[in-house]
Amino acid sequence: MISANDFIPSKYTHSVESGFFQWSAPSNIALVKYWGKKDNQIPANPSVSFTLNNCKTITKLAFAKKENQGSFSFDLLFEGQPKEDFKPKIQKFLERIEIYLPFLKDYHFTIDTENTFPHSSGIASSASGMAALAMNLMSLEKALNPEMTDDYFFQKASLLARLGSGSACRSVKGKVVVWGNQKNIPASSDLFGVEFPHAIHENFTNYQDTILLVDKGEKQVSSTVGHDLMHEHPFAERRFAQAHENLDHLITIFENGDLDAFIKIVESEALTLHAMMMTSMPYFILMNPNTLQIINAIWKFRKETKIPVCFTLDAGANVHVLYPENTSEKVLQFIKDELVGYCQNGQYICDRIGNGAVLI
Ligand code: DP6
Repeated sequence: MISANDFIPSKYTHSVESGFFQWSAPSNIALVKYWGKKDNQIPANPSVSFTLNNCKTITKLAFAKKENQGSFSFDLLFEGQPKEDFKPKIQKFLERIEIYLPFLKDYHFTIDTENTFPHSSGIASSASGMAALAMNLMSLEKALNPEMTDDYFFQKASLLARLGSGSACRSVKGKVVVWGNQKNIPASSDLFGVEFPHAIHENFTNYQDTILLVDKGEKQVSSTVGHDLMHEHPFAERRFAQAHENLDHLITIFENGDLDAFIKIVESEALTLHAMMMTSMPYFILMNPNTLQIINAIWKFRKETKIPVCFTLDAGANVHVLYPENTSEKVLQFIKDELVGYCQNGQYICDRIGNGAVLI
């Protein structure tokens, strides 16, 4: 089995003075949710997500060798402007990954980053942002060690991304990504995300995700606080076991294309995530009235039309509407007619399954 120590490099064969790389990395939407973690960003249960296509972070990493090698040195730009409030998170990230990338203090970095989705849309940019940064850092390591294999490159990129934000490790490579040890998924690991290795039915090809922006404000509960609530949580152990069961069911469902069964797992996972927050101490309600209006409208529409559209939620009020490509026209019309009114300023984002990070 691969251990984290396997990603600590011994010696680099090349040296590089300065240069830059640029990567884009997408967001992802979890079907089985990661909620609860152990030390070092090890998940309490396995999760699986669809990689998105349009919601992306694009990050350029410029680097130049520096004299003083005693500390990290970087500038951070967001949409071309210095962004001081993002710096502590990056500083912490660099500290966490230094053991895996011993060259980090040799360079001054300029990190120039932007998102394709509107900022403060309530869409988490930590997954795409940390994944894009991790890809750039791996490009630099590959320049220092050109013999590196592709497998190592992508596994380590995912491992680094995980140390920035857990869900970011699912934004590196592949359409459907599993993160966390699961007995029926060979090569699955708590250390990094892996592409779902089994067959995927054509019903899921180009699966659509329309993100309804119900509440674009700051997150009420940060993910750090949220994950912490699972320590001492009365239902934690049962919940972690359930995630394994649900992921097992999804293996079969991906293979046979049973959309009714898919919907049951996905909606139940979303509601369970919120139930965990409602039953923790302190407790939180992260949906708002419009979230519930949307869920009820989706259920009514599905019952009346038999169109297999469903929802999932992250740790907030926004709703991801998931549906097969061949139902797009009818579902989009339904969204325009009945759901847009529940979105802040009528805003929503049309996305679909994508392939992962791309070198630009
Ligand atoms: C509800 O990955 O944001 O979106 O590891 O603390 O950065 P950290 O947490 P984060 O948690 C995401 C939780 C979730 C479910 C999921 O994406 O699996």
